[in-house]
Amino acid sequence: MGERPVDLDVETNETLEAVRTFVEAQAEFGLTEFRLARADADAPLADLYESIRDCRMCGLCENRRNVVFGSGNPDADLMFIGEAPGAEEDRTGLPFVGAAGALLTRMIEAIGFQRDEVYIANVIKCRPPGNRDPKPEEVGTCKPFLERQIEYIQPVAICALGLFAARTLLGTDEPMGSLRGRLFSYRGIHLIPTYHPAALLRNRHWKRPAWEDLQLLRRVYDNADC
Ligand code: URA
Repeated sequence: MGERPVDLDVETNETLEAVRTFVEAQAEFGLTEFRLARADADAPLADLYESIRDCRMCGLCENRRNVVFGSGNPDADLMFIGEAPGAEEDRTGLPFVGAAGALLTRMIEAIGFQRDEVYIANVIKCRPPGNRDPKPEEVGTCKPFLERQIEYIQPVAICALGLFAARTLLGTDEPMGSLRGRLFSYRGIHLIPTYHPAALLRNRHWKRPAWEDLQLLRRVYDNADC
Protein backbone atom coordinates (compact mmCIF):
# COMPACT_ATOMS: atom_id res chain seq x y z
CA MET A 1 0.00 0.00 0.00
CA GLY A 2 1.35 3.44 -0.98
CA GLU A 3 1.86 6.12 1.65
CA ARG A 4 -0.98 8.60 1.92
CA PRO A 5 -0.14 12.27 2.43
CA VAL A 6 -0.82 13.48 5.96
CA ASP A 7 -2.67 16.77 6.48
CA LEU A 8 -0.71 18.88 8.93
CA ASP A 9 -1.87 22.14 10.40
CA VAL A 10 -0.23 25.42 9.46
CA GLU A 11 1.74 25.69 12.69
CA THR A 12 3.19 22.18 12.36
CA ASN A 13 4.12 22.85 8.73
CA GLU A 14 5.89 26.06 9.74
CA THR A 15 7.80 24.22 12.47
CA LEU A 16 8.83 21.47 10.05
CA GLU A 17 9.92 24.08 7.53
CA ALA A 18 12.04 25.83 10.18
CA VAL A 19 13.64 22.50 11.13
CA ARG A 20 14.36 21.73 7.44
CA THR A 21 15.99 25.15 6.93
CA PHE A 22 18.10 24.64 10.08
CA VAL A 23 19.20 21.14 9.06
CA GLU A 24 20.08 22.24 5.53
CA ALA A 25 22.13 25.14 6.90
CA GLN A 26 23.99 22.79 9.24
CA ALA A 27 24.58 20.30 6.40
CA GLU A 28 26.25 23.04 4.41
CA PHE A 29 28.81 23.22 7.21
CA GLY A 30 29.43 19.49 6.86
CA LEU A 31 27.30 18.28 9.80
CA THR A 32 25.89 14.87 8.95
CA GLU A 33 24.59 13.60 12.29
CA PHE A 34 22.18 15.07 14.84
CA ARG A 35 21.46 14.00 18.37
CA LEU A 36 18.18 15.18 19.79
CA ALA A 37 18.74 17.02 23.07
CA ARG A 38 16.00 16.39 25.59
CA ALA A 39 15.22 19.21 27.98
CA ASP A 40 13.02 17.11 30.25
CA ALA A 41 14.15 16.36 33.78
CA ASP A 42 14.49 12.64 33.26
CA ALA A 43 16.88 12.86 30.30
CA PRO A 44 19.97 11.85 32.35
CA LEU A 45 18.02 9.02 33.99
CA ALA A 46 16.69 7.85 30.64
CA ASP A 47 20.22 7.95 29.22
CA LEU A 48 21.51 5.95 32.18
CA TYR A 49 18.75 3.40 31.64
CA GLU A 50 19.61 3.13 27.95
CA SER A 51 23.25 2.54 28.87
CA ILE A 52 22.46 -0.40 31.16
CA ARG A 53 19.34 -2.01 29.73
CA ASP A 54 21.54 -4.60 27.96
CA CYS A 55 24.20 -4.66 30.70
CA ARG A 56 26.46 -7.72 30.70
CA MET A 57 28.91 -6.55 33.36
CA CYS A 58 28.19 -9.39 35.78
CA GLY A 59 26.86 -12.95 35.73
CA LEU A 60 23.31 -11.89 36.69
CA CYS A 61 22.72 -11.01 33.03
CA GLU A 62 22.71 -14.73 32.17
CA ASN A 63 19.38 -15.48 33.86
CA ARG A 64 17.56 -12.16 33.98
CA ARG A 65 14.68 -11.30 31.70
CA ASN A 66 14.73 -7.57 32.32
CA VAL A 67 17.05 -5.04 33.90
CA VAL A 68 14.89 -3.50 36.64
CA PHE A 69 16.09 0.06 36.58
CA GLY A 70 13.63 1.94 38.79
CA SER A 71 10.30 3.70 38.51
CA GLY A 72 8.56 6.84 39.59
CA ASN A 73 9.09 10.56 39.54
CA PRO A 74 12.57 11.64 38.34
CA ASP A 75 12.07 14.85 40.39
CA ALA A 76 11.03 12.98 43.51
CA ASP A 77 11.75 14.30 46.99
CA LEU A 78 11.62 10.79 48.40
CA MET A 79 13.42 7.68 47.21
CA PHE A 80 12.74 4.15 48.42
CA ILE A 81 15.60 1.74 47.82
CA GLY A 82 15.34 -2.03 48.09
CA GLU A 83 17.69 -4.93 47.53
CA ALA A 84 17.17 -6.62 44.17
CA PRO A 85 14.33 -7.63 41.86
CA GLY A 86 12.37 -10.80 42.49
CA ALA A 87 10.58 -13.01 39.96
CA GLU A 88 7.68 -10.64 39.29
CA GLU A 89 9.98 -7.63 38.95
CA ASP A 90 12.23 -9.58 36.56
CA ARG A 91 9.21 -10.49 34.46
CA THR A 92 7.78 -6.96 34.28
CA GLY A 93 10.96 -4.86 34.45
CA LEU A 94 9.47 -2.81 37.30
CA PRO A 95 10.59 -2.66 40.95
CA PHE A 96 8.39 -3.77 43.83
CA VAL A 97 5.41 -5.10 41.91
CA GLY A 98 4.88 -8.37 43.83
CA ALA A 99 3.33 -8.84 47.28
CA ALA A 100 6.10 -6.80 48.94
CA GLY A 101 5.48 -4.09 46.36
CA ALA A 102 1.78 -3.89 47.24
CA LEU A 103 2.75 -3.37 50.88
CA LEU A 104 5.33 -0.75 49.89
CA THR A 105 2.62 1.14 48.01
CA ARG A 106 0.49 1.14 51.18
CA MET A 107 3.48 2.31 53.26
CA ILE A 108 4.06 5.22 50.86
CA GLU A 109 0.39 6.16 50.90
CA ALA A 110 0.28 5.91 54.70
CA ILE A 111 2.62 8.92 54.91
CA GLY A 112 0.61 10.94 52.42
CA PHE A 113 2.31 10.26 49.09
CA GLN A 114 1.23 8.51 45.93
CA ARG A 115 3.54 5.84 44.59
CA ASP A 116 4.14 7.77 41.37
CA GLU A 117 5.25 10.87 43.32
CA VAL A 118 8.29 9.09 44.76
CA TYR A 119 11.09 7.13 43.09
CA ILE A 120 11.64 3.43 43.74
CA ALA A 121 14.82 1.55 42.87
CA ASN A 122 17.02 -1.30 44.03
CA VAL A 123 20.73 -1.61 44.75
CA ILE A 124 20.94 -4.53 42.31
CA LYS A 125 19.22 -4.17 38.95
CA CYS A 126 18.99 -7.82 37.87
CA ARG A 127 17.35 -10.70 39.69
CA PRO A 128 19.76 -13.01 41.53
CA PRO A 129 18.76 -16.60 40.63
CA GLY A 130 16.39 -18.07 43.20
CA ASN A 131 16.47 -14.71 45.03
CA ARG A 132 19.83 -15.56 46.58
CA ASP A 133 21.80 -12.80 48.32
CA PRO A 134 23.73 -10.60 45.89
CA LYS A 135 27.46 -11.33 45.79
CA PRO A 136 29.97 -8.61 46.72
CA GLU A 137 31.23 -8.38 43.12
CA GLU A 138 27.65 -7.91 41.88
CA VAL A 139 27.17 -5.12 44.39
CA GLY A 140 30.45 -3.55 43.30
CA THR A 141 29.34 -3.59 39.66
CA CYS A 142 25.78 -2.41 40.16
CA LYS A 143 26.03 0.10 43.02
CA PRO A 144 27.48 2.90 40.84
CA PHE A 145 24.25 2.86 38.78
CA LEU A 146 22.21 3.47 41.91
CA GLU A 147 24.65 6.19 42.99
CA ARG A 148 24.06 7.95 39.69
CA GLN A 149 20.29 7.62 40.02
CA ILE A 150 20.49 9.27 43.44
CA GLU A 151 22.79 11.96 42.08
CA TYR A 152 20.35 12.78 39.25
CA ILE A 153 17.20 12.66 41.38
CA GLN A 154 18.70 14.49 44.39
CA PRO A 155 15.92 13.48 46.77
CA VAL A 156 15.40 15.19 50.11
CA ALA A 157 15.38 11.83 51.84
CA ILE A 158 16.01 8.17 51.13
CA CYS A 159 14.25 5.30 52.85
CA ALA A 160 16.51 2.24 52.78
CA LEU A 161 14.27 -0.83 52.72
CA GLY A 162 15.90 -3.68 54.58
CA LEU A 163 19.30 -4.50 55.96
CA PHE A 164 21.00 -5.06 52.61
CA ALA A 165 20.09 -1.62 51.20
CA ALA A 166 20.85 0.13 54.50
CA ARG A 167 24.23 -1.55 54.91
CA THR A 168 25.22 -1.02 51.28
CA LEU A 169 24.38 2.68 51.31
CA LEU A 170 25.83 3.38 54.75
CA GLY A 171 28.87 1.13 54.43
CA THR A 172 28.21 -0.49 57.79
CA ASP A 173 27.57 -4.00 59.08
CA GLU A 174 25.39 -2.97 62.02
CA PRO A 175 22.16 -4.96 62.54
CA MET A 176 18.76 -3.53 61.60
CA GLY A 177 17.87 -3.30 65.28
CA SER A 178 20.47 -0.59 65.75
CA LEU A 179 20.06 1.08 62.33
CA ARG A 180 16.30 1.63 62.27
CA GLY A 181 14.73 4.52 64.13
CA ARG A 182 17.73 6.71 63.33
CA LEU A 183 18.45 9.45 60.85
CA PHE A 184 21.65 9.13 58.79
CA SER A 185 23.23 11.18 56.06
CA TYR A 186 24.13 9.68 52.69
CA ARG A 187 26.23 12.16 50.71
CA GLY A 188 24.32 15.01 52.34
CA ILE A 189 20.91 13.39 51.79
CA HIS A 190 18.82 12.26 54.79
CA LEU A 191 18.65 8.47 55.00
CA ILE A 192 16.27 6.47 57.15
CA PRO A 193 16.58 2.68 57.29
CA THR A 194 13.56 0.52 57.96
CA TYR A 195 12.44 -3.08 57.58
CA HIS A 196 11.99 -4.48 54.09
CA PRO A 197 8.28 -4.87 53.17
CA ALA A 198 8.89 -8.59 52.52
CA ALA A 199 10.18 -8.90 56.10
CA LEU A 200 7.10 -7.06 57.36
CA LEU A 201 4.90 -9.60 55.59
CA ARG A 202 6.67 -12.35 57.53
CA ASN A 203 6.90 -10.68 60.93
CA ARG A 204 4.01 -8.56 62.14
CA HIS A 205 5.97 -7.44 65.24
CA TRP A 206 8.08 -5.22 62.99
CA LYS A 207 5.09 -3.28 61.68
CA ARG A 208 5.00 -0.86 64.63
CA PRO A 209 8.70 0.10 64.41
CA ALA A 210 8.41 0.35 60.61
CA TRP A 211 5.48 2.74 61.04
CA GLU A 212 7.59 4.84 63.42
CA ASP A 213 10.37 4.94 60.79
CA LEU A 214 7.91 6.09 58.15
CA GLN A 215 6.65 8.83 60.45
CA LEU A 216 10.26 9.92 60.97
CA LEU A 217 10.67 10.00 57.18
CA ARG A 218 7.57 12.19 56.88
CA ARG A 219 8.84 14.58 59.59
CA VAL A 220 12.22 14.86 57.88
CA TYR A 221 10.43 15.65 54.61
CA ASP A 222 8.15 18.21 56.30
CA ASN A 223 11.10 19.99 57.94
CA ALA A 224 13.22 20.01 54.80
CA ASP A 225 13.45 23.11 52.69
CA CYS A 226 11.98 21.73 49.46
N1 URA B 1 12.40 -6.88 46.85
C1 URA B 1 13.27 -5.88 46.56
O1 URA B 1 14.19 -5.60 47.34
N2 URA B 1 13.09 -5.20 45.45
C2 URA B 1 12.11 -5.44 44.58
O2 URA B 1 12.01 -4.77 43.57
C3 URA B 1 11.21 -6.48 44.91
C4 URA B 1 11.37 -7.17 46.04
